[in-house]
Amino acid sequence: MRDLTNSWRRAGETIGVVLTMGALHDGHLSLVKAAHSRADRVIVTIFVNPRQFNNPEDLAKYPKTEDNDARILGPLAIDVLYIPDPEEIYPTGFSTTISVTGVSDGLCGGDRPGHFDGVATVVTKLLLQTDADCTFFGEKDYQQLQVVRRVVADLDLKTEIVACPTVREDDGLAMSSRNLRLGTEAREVSPVIGRVLESAANVISQGGNVAQALETARQALLVAGFDAVDYFELRDDHDLQPLMSADRPGRLFVAAWLDGVRLIDNTPVKAVFNAPIDRRKIPEPA
Ligand code: PAF
Repeated sequence: MRDLTNSWRRAGETIGVVLTMGALHDGHLSLVKAAHSRADRVIVTIFVNPRQFNNPEDLAKYPKTEDNDARILGPLAIDVLYIPDPEEIYPTGFSTTISVTGVSDGLCGGDRPGHFDGVATVVTKLLLQTDADCTFFGEKDYQQLQVVRRVVADLDLKTEIVACPTVREDDGLAMSSRNLRLGTEAREVSPVIGRVLESAANVISQGGNVAQALETARQALLVAGFDAVDYFELRDDHDLQPLMSADRPGRLFVAAWLDGVRLIDNTPVKAVFNAPIDRRKIPEPA
């Protein structure tokens, strides 16, 4: 990989990298297209990273479809499909963890301890191995995007992080490799998550009470047939601190279980003019 990227560098070419765990869908392909529009060379990586799964069953169930992934990538004319062996990422004796505080607290970080340490560590390794000038992350995993932005800023990595919009099925369900595990009935119910999210975001951005809107949204998911709601929260768009009031640009986040599958989604919420100020955010006078 180093020889290859060095030869591209000597020719003055830039490198765009799309990191994946395989089971590719149109969401990933939109990242590859974005990479082509920004970089001369495009690398796609597939590595099902054991360190970001806190549940061994979830890891075992993760779809592995490398041949099909390679076939899907065919028409997109990428330069390299990099599928490292576990030893190439975590050689014997590997003992380093990149751990990000703040943006990784709560939401998926709360429900999945160690998850973002695993993500931050593997992303750092893959960006260094591929010598990436730019890399592309979907907003569907918004907390992951903020964690990776933090790593790149804090460790002075040269890679530019490009955020790409969530790609949705025709019925509005955010694309995810996990969607393949939904049974027919559950698949029909699943788009409710996006609709409930949007309707809560509308209520909040029109000045509605945040706590009430979140509770109504939780109940709507359970009534629609979801088995449990891990979280439904309004957070600051940038540092992901919890918000009780839409007094600044925010983002609404949801994770809920359906048919044994954990679905996540998020959407922006505009700041409300005259929203009650969330006092917890105002620093104490020195
Ligand atoms: O979003 C994913 O598929 C993974 O978390 C990533 C970024 C490839 C790291 O393993």
